Amino acid sequence: MKILVTGGTGYIGSHTCCELLNSGFDVVIVDNLSNSKREVVNKIRIITKKNVTFYKCDVCDKYKLRKIFDREDIQAVIHFAGYKAVGESVKEPLMYYHNNLLSTISLLEVMKEFGCKKIVFSSSATVYGNPQKLPIKEDFPLHTTNPYGSTKLIIEGILKDLYNSDNDWSIAILRYFNPIGAHKSGLIGEDPNGIPNNLMPYIVKVANKQLDVLNVFGSDYKTRDGTGVRDYIHVVDLAKGHIKAIEKVIKDKGIDTYNLGTGRGYSVLELINTFVKVNKIDVPYKIVERRPGDIDMCYASTEKAKKILNWSAKLNIEDMCRDSYNFVVNSKKNKKSGGKHESL
Ligand code: NAD
Ligand code: UD1
Repeated sequence: MKILVTGGTGYIGSHTCCELLNSGFDVVIVDNLSNSKREVVNKIRIITKKNVTFYKCDVCDKYKLRKIFDREDIQAVIHFAGYKAVGESVKEPLMYYHNNLLSTISLLEVMKEFGCKKIVFSSSATVYGNPQKLPIKEDFPLHTTNPYGSTKLIIEGILKDLYNSDNDWSIAILRYFNPIGAHKSGLIGEDPNGIPNNLMPYIVKVANKQLDVLNVFGSDYKTRDGTGVRDYIHVVDLAKGHIKAIEKVIKDKGIDTYNLGTGRGYSVLELINTFVKVNKIDVPYKIVERRPGDIDMCYASTEKAKKILNWSAKLNIEDMCRDSYNFVVNSKKNKKSGGKHESL
């Protein structure tokens, strides 16, 4: 069975492609490489020892998408492609609405044309805003505070309207908590350009001496040690959640939403201390002002994914810290690139 993975050379997409190939699916990747590198395709091939087809294509481009659907016998889609930086979305809202919404609408239109009505969509825990209660359940009120989050909420609404208009669709909306970690091979992982916005990529750059010191945003939150608490989830566990979700949409029609998290929260200081202990490396940090918009605590109720998808996270915070650092250490050694790609 052939799965189209949009954004498949990105951080979560590349790990999911590996799990799909290892589970016996055929994989076609579509990515415009706006936030990833072509060499990832070859790394997926090296990790899985399986072939994968890659098209450099913008998902907003319906003409090219149609050609791909015409050429490949796509049975279902996992849609990762989109922009994801919260701060950038506040500065460039139109760019975010344009890319995230237009790519999704174009994709859904072409899927409909070709009678391919099975999709797994990447949403985010950001749609819960500042939750009133913890752990966060899928039926909690939704509220966003930035354009990035709004694109996710709007797309969730589009998918619900689409299903209501045509019950032939099978749709899984996955709300990720905080993905970190990397594949244990050290070949693929998260490699943001410039100064990272998110905590783990920042810790890794400080450990690797690319940045001097980590700024810990606030120590007066209502948490165990005053620093923000989040539900960090290993990206390989997250990728495995997509296998369960794609199996579900292949099997059953309907629309459903699932949290993908571990259900456990760790504070910023706990994450730093674990990283230092596991990797035996120093991470200098200083406490600074709160980052505007940050919340005290966020962690998932994982019951629904466990019950319906038969999925739960297996890897722990030590695995996440070890694998995040291993990727950076390894990527220095693995500079070779290449790989065949299909042209249109
Ligand atoms: P990523 O940036 O590493 O991957 C996204 C990929 O999509 C990139 O390879 C990029 O080149 C590609 N892309 C972007 N716009 C495109 C377009 N118009 N056409 C074709 N390709 C396009 O991000 P990620 O961390 O792997 O996230 C994947 C998805 O999960 C995103 O939709 C993101 O919003 C969502 N998500 C991510 C996180 C997180 O913390 N990483 C959390 C919640 C949700
Ligand atoms: C961020 C996004 C959220 C997105 C999520 C995905 C923001 C405001 N929110 O969430 O929409 O769904 O990523 O992973 O960007 N921290 C520091 N120092 C740093 C960076 C972060 O102390 O240099 C702290 C933050 O205050 C927070 C925790 O670390 O308490 C995690 O931050 P981050 O990795 O940016 O994730 P979120 O803010 O949870």
